[in-house]
Amino acid sequence: QPKKQDVMIDVHELLRKFYHHLLVNTKQGQEALEYLYQRGFTDDTIEEFQIGYAPGGWDKSLKFLTGRGYEEPLLTQLGLIIRREDGTYFDRFRDRIMFPIYNDKGNTVAFSGRMFKEGEPKYLNSPETVLFQKSQLLYNFHRSRPSIRKKQTAVLFEGFADCISAYRAGVTNGVATMGTALTDNHIQLLKRNAERIVLCFDSDDAGKEAVLKAGEMIQRAGLTVEVALVPDGKDPDEYIRKHGPEKFMHEVIDGRQTFMAFKMEKFRIGKNLEIEGERLAYIEKVLTEISLLQSPIEKEMYLRRLADEFALSFDSLKQQERQISYQMK
Ligand code: CTP
Ligand code: MN
Ligand code: MN
Ligand code: MN
Ligand code: MN
Repeated sequence: QPKKQDVMIDVHELLRKFYHHLLVNTKQGQEALEYLYQRGFTDDTIEEFQIGYAPGGWDKSLKFLTGRGYEEPLLTQLGLIIRREDGTYFDRFRDRIMFPIYNDKGNTVAFSGRMFKEGEPKYLNSPETVLFQKSQLLYNFHRSRPSIRKKQTAVLFEGFADCISAYRAGVTNGVATMGTALTDNHIQLLKRNAERIVLCFDSDDAGKEAVLKAGEMIQRAGLTVEVALVPDGKDPDEYIRKHGPEKFMHEVIDGRQTFMAFKMEKFRIGKNLEIEGERLAYIEKVLTEISLLQSPIEKEMYLRRLADEFALSFDSLKQQERQISYQMK
């Protein structure tokens, strides 16, 4: 008798193949396929990421799976079908573009379905199950782990569309969270494989706030944080579509800044540093951030930068930074 978890994975593997087949080989999937092409997805990407199409109607997946001998209670438990009050069932994923979610062993353990017509929500995910915990799982990790280890660097995206686009552009060490905030679990997973994390989030206000939050958490875990933001308020996928993969790799990925430089820029927004009081407040804020840095070399670097910029002595800045460090202990 096979273990229950193995059966659960078999269901997902089977459904992944079913959805993928419907997308690439059938009339039913044609509109979805055209949507993907129009967004710049290629056949290679669709193959590599095993993107699929969940059919419309209410019970196509249900019929397919029960026809293969899987029973409703199991499928309900996996969130693939939903039970109505009257005891009948319907498909969770209907008329959506399907992205299989893999665990770190490369087994399909969940799906995310994107709406490509009118309607809400934009993305519908599998619910949490014994196979799938959003707080533990990073999209694309099973594929990117060798590259993450080799480079000792992981690039973290907000959305998996970004992760896929960037992969095609050459970012082989990318991962994304599944529409949830970054957790300490995610960070520990990355920490076992890399010493540096590059945050490549959407460059809108929400994305920048998320960079601050994630950056602090990652820094606290003892990893180096860098920030690669696309310049125009868009997300990485939109940038790649507009400017091409080479420009993305060169300007955004190679042009990334340290977390500290990102914060220094952010603290400046809306401040008039010509005004003495605002200048002092800014310097103190930056000193507080410097005192949080782990590396003495980094500390020295930013203290020098600050000294140069505001024509202050390195020693007095250093002294004040020490005071702040001391007060915070
Ligand atoms: N997300 C979600 N449910 C939604 C919207 C978003 O789970 N209704 C998650 C998805 O994992 C998505 C991520 O949040 O990848 C980022 O959201 P957003 O930036 O809105 O989506 P994009 O990744 O840009 O997706 P697309 O380009 O397809 O619009
Ligand atoms: Mn195929
Ligand atoms: Mn966003
Ligand atoms: Mn986005
Ligand atoms: Mn997007």
